[in-house]
Amino acid sequence: MDVINLRSDTQTLPTPEMMEAVAAAQLGDDTYDEDPTVRALEEEAARLLGKEAAVLCISGNMANLACLMAHAAPGDEVFLDPESHIYYYEVGGLANIAGLMPMPVPCPSGRMDPGDLRRAVRRPNLHYPVPKLLCLENTHNRAGGTVTPLDLHNALCDTAHDLGLTVHLDGARIFNAAIAAGVPASAFAEKADSVMFCLSKGLSCPLGSIAVGSREVIERVDRARKRLGGGMRQAGIIAACGLVALRTMVDRLADDHANARLLADGLTAVPGLRVDLATVETNMVYVDHRDAYPDTGAVLARMKAVGVLASGRPPHHIRFVTHRHYGPDDIREAVERVRTALRADG
Ligand SMILES: Cc1ncc(COP(=O)(O)O)c(C=O)c1O
Repeated sequence: MDVINLRSDTQTLPTPEMMEAVAAAQLGDDTYDEDPTVRALEEEAARLLGKEAAVLCISGNMANLACLMAHAAPGDEVFLDPESHIYYYEVGGLANIAGLMPMPVPCPSGRMDPGDLRRAVRRPNLHYPVPKLLCLENTHNRAGGTVTPLDLHNALCDTAHDLGLTVHLDGARIFNAAIAAGVPASAFAEKADSVMFCLSKGLSCPLGSIAVGSREVIERVDRARKRLGGGMRQAGIIAACGLVALRTMVDRLADDHANARLLADGLTAVPGLRVDLATVETNMVYVDHRDAYPDTGAVLARMKAVGVLASGRPPHHIRFVTHRHYGPDDIREAVERVRTALRADG
């Protein structure tokens, strides 16, 4: 039985074209700024996002942290959703490495309210840290891959700038957001001071994330990356995959979105499971199992036994992420396997 692995879009493997591009890539020492393939990727990424400059990083986590360090100094205050990846999943790096003070601003469905941001930013006072940075996340992972619409995104950036904050966008899946919103990714980048996006995940690269911004911001991100140990040598082998990804893997993300919708429709019809279909906007499906099954781990184990892998989001949810390795037939097969597995649960 072939396993249907929908744990994450990070499970994707490089395409054959990427492997050929790696073999053919021109390489140099990137710390000397002499890798032509890295330069080509950074130029293309900056152009695509409508920014002056870009820098390639090992991971989204590192690119996010380097951007935070570029914008804010130890002791400064950063406003962000407590469910955001930067706050929830990045080992507290914003505090324990960058020395920043997080001020959580809860974001229902992953979308911050500009009024909540305004209320969270306090007037200067001896007792408070200096408010410095707003972090946004689009699409929003823990909210279910939801998209913050462009008008709200722009209103948040305008509010932040009005309050004297700079804006960093964690756009790990910015192209998913752009496709779902029907706008170019550059539209989301326009008012942000820095944007991080991932070449891995839905774009299928084995690794790599890119930070874009003004030349001045990216110079500071580059220094922060170096301080984090992220200076690279012949990184063209990563960049070669990235160029293929930007040229061939972006538009097909729409297929992942259609497959997520198919999966959501199928799973919400399985007795005992519920999907809030309104949250299924991109490539993620969060399934609520609490009506029939109290234990997330037990549901995952049942599914694993029939060859369907997903991720637990306890206490009540399981997350499925669609990606290029599975088409509509696999998705239908996954739904039937889940139906069988849970029926057996009685
Ligand atoms: C929204 C978001 N930001 C950042 C990251 C970090 O990316 P990486 O795992 O490449 O460090 C992820 C990874 O899943 C993510 O979902």
